[in-house]
Amino acid sequence: MNKPITVAICGCGNRGLEAYAPFALKYPDKMKVVAGADIKPERLRMLRERFDVPEEMCFASDLELLAQPRLADVMIVATQDRLHIRPAMAALEKGYHLLLEKPISSSLDECIALREKAHECGRAVVVCHVLRYTKFYSVLEKLLREGAVGKLQTIDAMEHVAYWHFAHSYVRGNWRREDESSPMILAKCCHDMDIIRWLAGSKCRSVQSFGSLDWFRAENAPQGSAERCLDCGVKDACPYDAEKIYITNKASGFRSIGPRWPGNVLVDRPTEEALYDHLRHGPYGRCVYHCDNDVCDRQTVSMEFENGVLATFTVSAFTEACYRYVRVTGTMGDIEGNLDDNILKIHRFGEPEEVIDIGRIIEEYAGHGGGDFGMLHYLCDLLESGDTRGLTGIDASVESHLMGLAAEISRHDGGKTVLLSDIDHG
Ligand SMILES: NC(=O)c1ccc[n+]([C@@H]2O[C@H](COP(=O)([O-])OP(=O)(O)OC[C@H]3O[C@@H](n4cnc5c(N)ncnc54)[C@H](O)[C@@H]3O)[C@@H](O)[C@H]2O)c1
Repeated sequence: MNKPITVAICGCGNRGLEAYAPFALKYPDKMKVVAGADIKPERLRMLRERFDVPEEMCFASDLELLAQPRLADVMIVATQDRLHIRPAMAALEKGYHLLLEKPISSSLDECIALREKAHECGRAVVVCHVLRYTKFYSVLEKLLREGAVGKLQTIDAMEHVAYWHFAHSYVRGNWRREDESSPMILAKCCHDMDIIRWLAGSKCRSVQSFGSLDWFRAENAPQGSAERCLDCGVKDACPYDAEKIYITNKASGFRSIGPRWPGNVLVDRPTEEALYDHLRHGPYGRCVYHCDNDVCDRQTVSMEFENGVLATFTVSAFTEACYRYVRVTGTMGDIEGNLDDNILKIHRFGEPEEVIDIGRIIEEYAGHGGGDFGMLHYLCDLLESGDTRGLTGIDASVESHLMGLAAEISRHDGGKTVLLSDIDHG
């Protein structure tokens, strides 16, 4: 048996400790967490307690961790969006392979610079486009590649964010402002850009986009509302009420789901008392109409690929459930499905419908439809094989980031067509 790959985690927050590090506990023969960095002592304490990382291997920042000689095979960069590029560049220079959270950066130049650095250093860079590692999308991609519905013509994808998830992350939370994180199309939808490009099986030629922040603005605050939900006179009629979202909602509230996400973003160790305390004083207790958010709450993107495939994408905050939908059409049939049901329906023209129940063929189901752990299995296999290109390697990932950045240029310019070849100066 091979030795487990060793990882250092830069940014021991939700992704670092909840999505990736647990893989090492489940598969100790494949991965071992040996070091980590976070600016919050509590997160380092959790790293030590849960993953048995010695005190001397816990560092107070990315800078401190990267001032050490190389401590592991892989650096997992799971800091917030604006703090990916600095540790990622430094880790490549130190000789680490990278598991890099998306988005790489919201700067075109930085995305291209990282691509160049990865090529120069010859290290594996797996960008966390976790959806590629789900059975749902990999079965769909295989069907298309095998010509199950003839020559691919169109792809329509929709991301239903769910009203409460949008309010949590993009109105009250970490991704609410472009200047502190990224535009929506990168923060939430760089996965979708990546999947659409992968399904299309070709480079994207041009992009058009429309979108804006329409609803979560002060002028839409109902009469009788207050700065904080707990003080609001009309909270009973408001689906965005923070008390509902964090305490009583079936899908997201502590009383139904316990101390998990999203409550664990408000406080490290959620209890009902600690959550109420945060709602009284913290940012997630704010009225959704009185926040300092500026990212789009709906956006559309139209894409044309070099092989002639056409695609559309819509993301909306305003949905009850949280799932992705996709429909592809080909010259001999169409396929549709959604990641929540985990079912693909194939219609070969003139023939009975074929239903593929992905849930039945999944052996393991962790976050993102199995994508989080699927990606880590892939990373371990990749390093064992010595092939450093990776399914979500840097070239493919930068391409999908450029699609998102092109969409932003288009959106800010009234939906004008942006050619990808005009912006990729690398
Ligand atoms: N791949 C996916 O599907 C997916 C899903 C959600 C989030 N993300 C991305 O993952 C990243 C992390 O998201 P999260 O929800 O875990 O955020 P988080 O805020 O929970 O975690 C980030 C951690 O980085 C720490 N940190 C801040 N400055 C640091 C520094 N200088 N050195 C070391 N650590 C530092 C913070 O204290 C925090 O604990 C984001 O970029 C986000 O967009 C990806």
